[in-house]
Amino acid sequence: GTSYAASFRVWRGDAGGGDLQDYTVEAIDGEVVLDVLHRLQATQTPDLAVRWNCKAGKCGSCSAEVNGRPRLLCMTRMSVFERDETITVTPIRTFPVIRDLVTDVSFNYEKARQIPSFTPPPGLAPGEYRMQQIDVQRSQEFRKCIECFLCQNVCHVVRDHEENKEAFAGPRYFIRIAELEMHPLDVADRRSSAQDEDGLGLCNITKCCTEVCPENIHITDNAIIPMKERVADRRYDPIVWLGNKLFRR
Ligand code: SF4
Ligand code: F3S
Ligand code: FES
Repeated sequence: GTSYAASFRVWRGDAGGGDLQDYTVEAIDGEVVLDVLHRLQATQTPDLAVRWNCKAGKCGSCSAEVNGRPRLLCMTRMSVFERDETITVTPIRTFPVIRDLVTDVSFNYEKARQIPSFTPPPGLAPGEYRMQQIDVQRSQEFRKCIECFLCQNVCHVVRDHEENKEAFAGPRYFIRIAELEMHPLDVADRRSSAQDEDGLGLCNITKCCTEVCPENIHITDNAIIPMKERVADRRYDPIVWLGNKLFRR
């Protein structure tokens, strides 16, 4: 393909601070932003830190912000920008920077550990699990998550509010909780914990999470709103609730 000189502005630095630096890098038609960053690394800045793995939109490693928008670097085509436009690449903002474009996303792994795992009814052994196809299909959407954490990064509840992080699991974990809550064989009470421990009530349905999800998971409509409805549905009644779980609504 034909090549041209692309203008890049890349955040360089570490936990102690940093700034935006300007580079002119060769770009070839058909490339993605990650290709050009790799060329920058190969030709001018061998120490540029950028995390990536699959280059196919499947590993969720290359999350960053391009012109201020949360994006996967490997799925952002150079052709969406004008050739004379300066492309600004910064690390995702909600998590602490390690170096350059690489952030520490361990917040998300801590939240993952706090969610009680799949809890089948007592006495039901693996191998005896039976569920209907419709229930399998419902959870399929949530299982497409590649853990890029772009939804966690963009949500305003934590993006500019470090103080909310303790009390808020975030949209990626609301889909995990919804998946388990909608699982016909899961008997754990996910509603009280979603509200009291995972901060579901802090979400005011801005839907920014859904807009940035590279897997097009309908985080807000299919997970968060149904969970909020279940929490508000009726006062906690263990018999009605267990009956609903076992015999389906
Ligand atoms: Fe990424 Fe979507 Fe999963 Fe959030 S729900 S971590 S945006 S794939
Ligand atoms: Fe945040 Fe998504 Fe709710 S962006 S406020 S979790 S709808
Ligand atoms: Fe795997 Fe971009 S490198 S999603």
